[in-house]
Amino acid sequence: MIRGLNLLLVLGVAVGALACRGEPARQPPVHLNPNMDTQDKYKAYGHSEFFEDGRTMRTPPAGTVARGLLKDSDAYWRGREADGTPVARMPICAGEDTVDCVTLDQAFVRRGQERFNIYCAPCHDPAGYGKGTVVLRNAGLVPPPSYHDETRRALADGAIFDAITNGVRTMRPYAHQIPVADRWAIVAYIRALQRSQHAALDDVPEAQRGKL
Ligand code: HEC
Repeated sequence: MIRGLNLLLVLGVAVGALACRGEPARQPPVHLNPNMDTQDKYKAYGHSEFFEDGRTMRTPPAGTVARGLLKDSDAYWRGREADGTPVARMPICAGEDTVDCVTLDQAFVRRGQERFNIYCAPCHDPAGYGKGTVVLRNAGLVPPPSYHDETRRALADGAIFDAITNGVRTMRPYAHQIPVADRWAIVAYIRALQRSQHAALDDVPEAQRGKL
């Protein structure tokens, strides 16, 4: 038994000593389970035999822009009119047009609700009164204003979009975390929140008034 173990030990040391790492070899290493470690594909910065200049990546033809990256709509991408003032209403898709505009439906507002609850509610609270957990636990933080005061209700859609994109006074910007489409969804949801806190009985469908 002991002799067997000793033999194993000696063998192990011998194999270990023979497997000299760092030794240059012409052959690629033996892959017992190659999986998808090596693939026949080009990577952006890789070498290419195909093109004369040896590069894989191609320069786009002069004067062209990749689809969807032109960003020439100030209203959609920056929330501003051409003269720089914030747009009163978000650009809503009309007819066949589906580029650089928002499709204002229930799914869109729900998406806004979900994003709002992640990114904004911690400070602004789920109903938008500015009494989020962060504020309640952090004496000293400037409390956010309520979305339901006159000033905030009168804000243009573009001004709320701008608050998310560039921040406002002591509030930090969220442009890096929240893509443009989601910023508009959040704006739509804040509008829904504002309406919900200033609703009259007439806003509720007649059949459902009894529930209130
Ligand atoms: C870390 C806390 C915090 C978070 C998170 C936060 N805000 Fe604010 N927000 C503030 C504070 C504080 C102010 C008031 C800033 C001031 O007046 O100095 C404010 C102000 C605002 C205003 C009022 C702007 C105005 O012109 O009066 C809007 C609109 C707003 N926030 C939207 C948002 C939206 C939308 C989100 C989520 C994407 C968000 N905030 C996330 C703290 C926060």
